[in-house]
Order: sequence, then structure tokens, then C-alpha cells
Amino acid sequence: MLSLKKSIVPLVLIFILTVCDVAVSKSGIPAEWSMDTDCALCHTHEADTLTNEKCLIYAHSEESCTSCHSQEDRLAVAHRKMSTDTSKLKRLKRTKMGEENCIACHGGWEDLSERTKDTVLVQDSEGTIVNPHIVRTEINKSKQHNLVTCTSCHRMHTETNLAEAANEACRTCHHAGVYKCGTCHN
Ligand code: HEC
Ligand code: HEC
Ligand code: HEC
Ligand code: HEC
Ligand code: HEC
Ligand code: HEC
Repeated sequence: MLSLKKSIVPLVLIFILTVCDVAVSKSGIPAEWSMDTDCALCHTHEADTLTNEKCLIYAHSEESCTSCHSQEDRLAVAHRKMSTDTSKLKRLKRTKMGEENCIACHGGWEDLSERTKDTVLVQDSEGTIVNPHIVRTEINKSKQHNLVTCTSCHRMHTETNLAEAANEACRTCHHAGVYKCGTCHN
């Protein structure tokens, strides 16, 4: 019994190693992750969105993946168990992208507010129109709006109707569909 185990274990190991070796060379995925790894090897969905006009990433097709995904330390942790088994990608949790990345290229909330001062896309059920980019500056008495960030409205790799996404972001708190508080209850 014991001797049977002894002879099977090495055989199984050799088998596993051979199969893995084939997987590595076929997929071209390197063993170690780095910021220079070709991200599209695994993140095929995100890479495909680059050519989808309905996704915001389309406007960024000249930029590299790491121009936005620039937090090397955090990414290194996420990829520490990088494997050739890309089925694990299904377990991906949603990324939180800090607004500082976006602001570095687009300017801050004030600059953006200037550019969208005529926009009518964000509107409540009473017809009150709000410039979406002033919620972090002009109308933020209680600092509640600090929870609103670029990606609350702008999604990169998902087909999104911007007006709908923006209005939805407001409704998470303005649940009655009116941009007021304290008028119906305290
Ligand atoms: C070998 C396949 C592979 C390659 C190549 C790869 N990734 Fe990933 N990536 C993964 C897997 C698997 C996860 C899921 C990890 C988890 O959820 O624990 C992941 C997660 C992520 C996440 C979400 C994790 C988080 O904490 O936000 C981002 C963003 C990401 N990868 C970006 C990149 C970028 C940018 C590159 C290229 C520089 C890249 N990946 C290259 C497999 C890969
Ligand atoms: C212009 C900025 C930008 C660029 C360029 C960019 N991403 Fe993203 N990425 C984001 C944002 C923002 C998110 C958060 C989810 C969303 O908005 O769709 C994200 C999410 C992700 C995720 C996690 C999936 C999730 O649902 O959270 C992966 C993986 C990813 N991006 C890979 C890539 C790859 C690969 C490239 C290059 C082909 C790339 N990204 C280029 C901004 C960017
Ligand atoms: C590396 C620089 C860079 C980064 C980082 C970046 N962008 Fe952009 N963005 C651009 C360029 C270039 C364009 C296309 C020219 C333009 O409209 O200014 C663009 C266009 C846009 C547009 C207008 C799209 C259109 O169709 O008119 C929006 C909205 C936008 N980006 C939001 C974001 C958000 C949100 C983030 C962060 C998640 C972000 N960007 C990160 C460079 C960047
Ligand atoms: C509450 C939702 C919301 C948030 C939060 C938000 N935006 Fe916007 N943004 C919009 C809407 C709506 C428009 C489109 C205005 C239009 O086309 O009429 C827009 C337009 C833009 C544009 C194009 C401006 C132009 O010149 O046409 C850029 C760039 C942009 N946003 C970047 C950002 C960045 C960067 C952040 C975070 C600092 C951000 N946005 C936060 C809703 C939002
Ligand atoms: C995280 C919860 C939250 C979100 C999300 C949110 N708000 Fe608010 N908002 C509040 C609270 C609480 C107040 C009342 C206190 C204050 O003025 O800061 C308020 C106040 C306001 C006011 C001023 C009302 C008045 O009579 O003084 C306006 C306008 C407004 N919000 C518009 C918006 C818009 C537009 C959005 C979406 C872009 C939005 N809010 C998203 C919580 C939120
Ligand atoms: C147009 C009227 C109206 C406005 C404006 C309004 N609410 Fe409400 N809210 C209601 C009604 C109606 C209820 C349910 C009545 C109840 O159960 O007391 C409610 C319930 C709530 C509850 C649950 C209370 C509980 O005890 O279960 C919270 C929390 C709440 N509102 C927060 C807010 C915030 C935050 C704002 C501003 C961002 C806001 N509401 C603006 C009408 C409004």
C-alpha cells in the first residue's frame, strides 16, 4: 500500500508539471506580473472595450492601461497569485479608481464645472437642473457629496448612458427624486 503511494505521487507531479508547462507556453503569459505585462492577455473584456464606441474607454484608446491603473503596489498585490488559469477572472471584484487619476489629466472639479455649465443632463423630477460637477464644490454644505466621485457617473469598460448613470448616482441619496433634504422630513 505504502509503496504504491510512493510511486504514484511522483508520476502525478510530473503529469501536473507537464500540463502547466504547456499552458504557459501556449498562452504566452509570463510567470511574474509587472506593469509592463500585456494586460490584454487576461483582461480580454476590458481590452475589447477599447474599440467599443459606447464605452468611455473608447475616448481613451490612445492611453495605456497603466495610465489609469497606475497604483503599482496595489496591483502587485492583486496579481500576486497570477496564474495561467484565466477562469479565475470571474471572481473579480469591482475596482475602485481614485479620482486623482482622472483629475491629473482632466483638471479638478472647478475646471470641469466650467466645461459643463450648460449641461442639462442632470435634472430632478421638479425640473431642477444641476451642473453635475458642482456637487463637490458649490453645493456640499454637509460634505455628504464627498461620496460622489468621477466613477459614480463615468464608467470606463461598461456600455453606459451617462445621463442615466448620473441621475442614478444622485438618487442613491435623493431617494424621492428631488434635490432637496429636510423639506419632507428631518
Ligand atoms: C495572467 C493574467 C493577468 C494579467 C496578464 C494581468 N492581470 Fe489583472 N488580474 C488578473 C486576475 C486573476 C485578477 C483578479 C485578482 C483578484 O480578484 O483577486 C486581476 C485583477 C486586476 C484588477 C482588479 C484588482 C483591483 O484590486 O483593483 C485590475 C485593475 C487589473 N487586474 C489590472 C491589470 C493591468 C493594468 C494589467 C497589465 C499591466 C493586468 N491586470 C495584467 C489577471 C491578470
Ligand atoms: C481612462 C482610464 C482607464 C484606462 C485607460 C483603463 N482603465 Fe480599466 N478601469 C478604469 C476604471 C474607472 C475602472 C472601474 C470600473 C469601470 O469604471 O468600468 C476600471 C476597471 C478595470 C478592471 C476591473 C474590472 C472591474 O469591474 O472593476 C480591470 C481588470 C481593468 N480596468 C483593466 C484594464 C485594461 C486591461 C486596460 C487597458 C486595455 C484598462 N483597464 C484601461 C479606468 C481605466
Ligand atoms: C492619461 C490621461 C487621462 C486619464 C488618466 C483620464 N483621461 Fe479621460 N480623456 C483623456 C483624453 C486624451 C480624452 C479625449 C480628449 C478629450 O475629450 O479631452 C479623454 C476624454 C474623457 C471624457 C470625454 C469623453 C467624450 O466622449 O467626450 C470623459 C468624460 C473622461 N475622459 C473621463 C475620465 C475619467 C472619469 C477618468 C478617470 C477614471 C479619466 N477620464 C482618466 C485623457 C485621460
Ligand atoms: C454626477 C455625475 C458626474 C460626476 C460625479 C462626474 N461627472 Fe463628468 N460629466 C457628467 C456629465 C453628465 C457630463 C456630460 C455633460 C454633457 O455632455 O452635457 C460630464 C462631462 C465630463 C467631461 C467632458 C467635458 C466636456 O468638455 O464636454 C469630462 C472630461 C468629465 N466629465 C470628467 C469628469 C471627472 C474627471 C470627474 C471626477 C473629477 C467627473 N467627470 C465627475 C457627470 C459627472
Ligand atoms: C451621499 C448622499 C448624496 C448624494 C449621492 C447626493 N446628494 Fe445631494 N445632498 C445630500 C444631502 C445630505 C444634502 C443636504 C445637505 C447639504 O446641502 O449638503 C444634499 C443637498 C443637495 C442640494 C442642495 C439642496 C438645498 O436645498 O440646499 C442639491 C442641489 C443636491 N444635493 C444635488 C445633488 C445632485 C445633483 C446629486 C447627484 C450628482 C446629489 N445631490 C447626490 C446628499 C447626497
Ligand atoms: C419629496 C420628499 C422627500 C425628500 C425631499 C427627501 N425625503 Fe427622505 N423620505 C421621504 C418619505 C416620504 C419617506 C418615508 C416616510 C417615512 O417612513 O418616514 C422618507 C424616508 C427617508 C429615510 C428613512 C427614514 C426611516 O426612518 O426609515 C431616510 C434615511 C431618508 N428619507 C433620507 C433622506 C435624505 C438624506 C434626503 C435628502 C438627500 C431625503 N430623505 C429627502 C420623503 C422625502
